[in-house]
Amino acid sequence: MTEITLTRFDDVRDAYRQKGLKQALYDAAGVIMADTLLTLWGDDHRKRRRLENRLFRRDTFEHYERDLLPGAVDEVLDPAAAAGRGDVVPLARRIVVNLTAAAAGVDRPEGTPAETDRLYSYGVKFSEGATAVHSTRDPEELKAEVSDALDRWDEDFFAPSLDRRTEMFSRFAAGEITEDDLPRDVLTVLVRNQDALDLPRDVIRREVAFYLLAGMHSTGAATTHAVHGAFGWFEDHPDDRRRIIDDPVFLQQCVHESMRLHPASPVARREAMEPVTMRDGTEMAVGDTVVMDLWSANRDPEVFGDDADRFNPLREIRDDVPRWGHTFGGGRHACIGMELDGGVPADEATGAPILLGTVALILRGLLARGAQPDPDDPPEQDPNITRVWWGRYPVRF
Ligand code: HEM
Repeated sequence: MTEITLTRFDDVRDAYRQKGLKQALYDAAGVIMADTLLTLWGDDHRKRRRLENRLFRRDTFEHYERDLLPGAVDEVLDPAAAAGRGDVVPLARRIVVNLTAAAAGVDRPEGTPAETDRLYSYGVKFSEGATAVHSTRDPEELKAEVSDALDRWDEDFFAPSLDRRTEMFSRFAAGEITEDDLPRDVLTVLVRNQDALDLPRDVIRREVAFYLLAGMHSTGAATTHAVHGAFGWFEDHPDDRRRIIDDPVFLQQCVHESMRLHPASPVARREAMEPVTMRDGTEMAVGDTVVMDLWSANRDPEVFGDDADRFNPLREIRDDVPRWGHTFGGGRHACIGMELDGGVPADEATGAPILLGTVALILRGLLARGAQPDPDDPPEQDPNITRVWWGRYPVRF
């Protein structure tokens, strides 16, 4: 079997669109990722994605941005600002964990900070399991820890959430409650379609855990990278500290630029399920694999210019290329949470306003409270992972 590596932007885009290529990055992460949306193939993927897509629409994003996020940001950042310091990594993750739990369908009946912290620590362990391919830890030890965390989370959060939805769905089927009474979350969609999609309980459990980690982990990392990118930019453009708070388009350009430079995973990987011809004529046989080097493709000078390695939110990019490059993936597995996190531009035709997205809202919340790098406590890379990943990012307010 051969493996090819793609580093050019257009080649990676072509690979994402190839129908004969199957997800192959998460083989070492089965304990948490087996049979989740991201690893499904063909018809199974299409059916489940169609159902879950319905939850990720503009009206949902508007609801998050208007009704949920501002309160979630204040709740976490106000005490940190009052204390005069904080670490962006846990702050960002704490903001998103409750939002992601709402989208995934994980109830928080206590609604206390201690409950959020418990959920957060499960999410951290699930994220470690999902990124097993880039982990520096002993694989068996990591797998055992993730499996144990899944069992404890099941008892603590998942089983009660599942029971509540199963009961609600029975009442809905009996005509006692209406569609509007049902929660709008992934777990409810799965419970409703459990028979049609032939979903055993353990698959539902992993799918919900995957959503929890996908939202929390990638959003937290993207926020820390955005903070770092903005701080670097302000060194040469001090006036833009005010502009980023006041100008939503510029704020979003900063976020998208840091997303381009720091894709959640530096690579995607696919395996050929049938003979595939790539755009440059390379033939792939069944079982051959392709590594899509997103890190390099997102810094392709032909697309992003000679300064592609540098953070420049004002760069000009051709119209058919998203400012975040391939950071949200592409093709059938393109990130379902892309607009929730990356935002949606204003639409002149309909008059719909710009949606900033979660990362921009958190970045603005930090900067509006005066966040600055902590001169006595520099940020540090996470030692447990080979990805460029901040383990700590202390700031002063
Ligand atoms: C900045 C934040 C995020 C980044 C950079 C990101 C990135 C990605 C990427 C690259 C993929 C495709 C992976 C591949 O093709 O191998 C993906 C898929 C996915 N993401 Fe995200 N993601 C983010 C936030 C979110 C959020 C907030 C959610 C949910 C609330 C989410 C849910 C998912 C799901 C369910 C998939 C699987 C889609 C499918 O296979 O059809 N992500 N994400």
